[in-house]
Amino acid sequence: MKIRMISKLAAGVAMVAMVAGAAKAAEQVEVLHWWTSGGEAAALNVLKENLQKEGVGWKDMPVAGGAGSAAMTALRARVTAGDPPTAVQLLGFDLRDWSEMGVAANLDDLAKKEGWDKVIPPALQAFSKYDGHWIAAPVNIHSTNWLWLNKAALDKAGGKAPTNIDELFTLLDNFKSQGIIPLAHGGVPWQDGTMWESVVLSVGGPDFYKKAVLDLDPAALSGDTMKKVFDDMSKLRSYFDPNFSGREWNLSTALVIEGKAGAQEMGDWSKGEWLRAKKEPGKDFVCIRFPGTQGSVLFNADQFMMFDVGEKQKDAQMKMASAVENPGFQIAFNTVKGSVPARTDISDEKFDDCGKKGMKDLNEASAKGTLLGSLAHGYAQPAAIKEAMLDVITQHLNGQLTTDAALKRLPEAVAAAK
Ligand code: BGC
Repeated sequence: MKIRMISKLAAGVAMVAMVAGAAKAAEQVEVLHWWTSGGEAAALNVLKENLQKEGVGWKDMPVAGGAGSAAMTALRARVTAGDPPTAVQLLGFDLRDWSEMGVAANLDDLAKKEGWDKVIPPALQAFSKYDGHWIAAPVNIHSTNWLWLNKAALDKAGGKAPTNIDELFTLLDNFKSQGIIPLAHGGVPWQDGTMWESVVLSVGGPDFYKKAVLDLDPAALSGDTMKKVFDDMSKLRSYFDPNFSGREWNLSTALVIEGKAGAQEMGDWSKGEWLRAKKEPGKDFVCIRFPGTQGSVLFNADQFMMFDVGEKQKDAQMKMASAVENPGFQIAFNTVKGSVPARTDISDEKFDDCGKKGMKDLNEASAKGTLLGSLAHGYAQPAAIKEAMLDVITQHLNGQLTTDAALKRLPEAVAAAK
């Protein structure tokens, strides 16, 4: 009798253990993202490891391609098939578009418990919330109006960083005479757009950027200032190497790291590649605002939207969202990724000089109203308008449209996409 009771008990214990085990195994997030470069993957690993420590499994769904356009195609296919991933890296207006379709999980309880309202900057909350409800956990704040310089090449050119676009052209001429690629660029629409938005800001200043890119004013999109923007884009193109077409951004960064190129215009995810190559800011490379854009910040922020995939996954999703907003994670992740924290209550102590500058610039821009959404990364316009504009920008950069034709096409493309 006794023995039977014990074995019954043992079986019961085994059952409980099995059920708990199953529950644990089921606690998993499937994460769709485009963080596939060396620096990006290293940053993502911080999150994976943190979640693993909490017993949350990670099913990886990487879709290569900067700025996420390939990832968005993959996402649409999964949602259409009725099988969305649990968590998805999304930017700006895409968060709104998906929320509008009613597929987002509600993060209000967690956000309330952790006081997100008080620490996430309003510029991000505008996208992390839909209809007043939290639908995404912001990971970071990136910025696109940066120029990355090889320090040795800059020193050879006299060591003075350019402060306006004319000084930039002079520096690029010097790089040319050094026998290196002056400007490393990858010819794909989002990279063309990333460079274009910096040039718009440099040539026209923040008020013009607002008028043209945020308000889509037809006169601003086709006037003299925009003419100078397109002319400067053509001039910048003359400093590319012949193999620029289609090149991924991180391969261009590698050219600057190796000293085969002098400079790259790129968002601060580029720093992740420098750090991964064991290079130091101020010693091996120099980060400056794209010449002429000092005082303004074009921002984009990676956010994880949780898709509503039912109660079973909710716990794992909330653990992931909570891990993302954890202050320690914000430091550990963003110091590797090149971005700055998505929370306003994080000290810059652990950040390198570029990170410190990024945080300072962000605060100043936010205070004086020059923190502006990036077009190429979805924070200025919804996807249809963004794509229409990038199309004109790319065609012009590739010589398929003259400047005059681009000035005519830009407002037309915008009007058609609205
Ligand atoms: C994302 C970054 C990413 C970059 C290149 C941007 O849109 O915000 O996190 O590193 O694309 O892939």
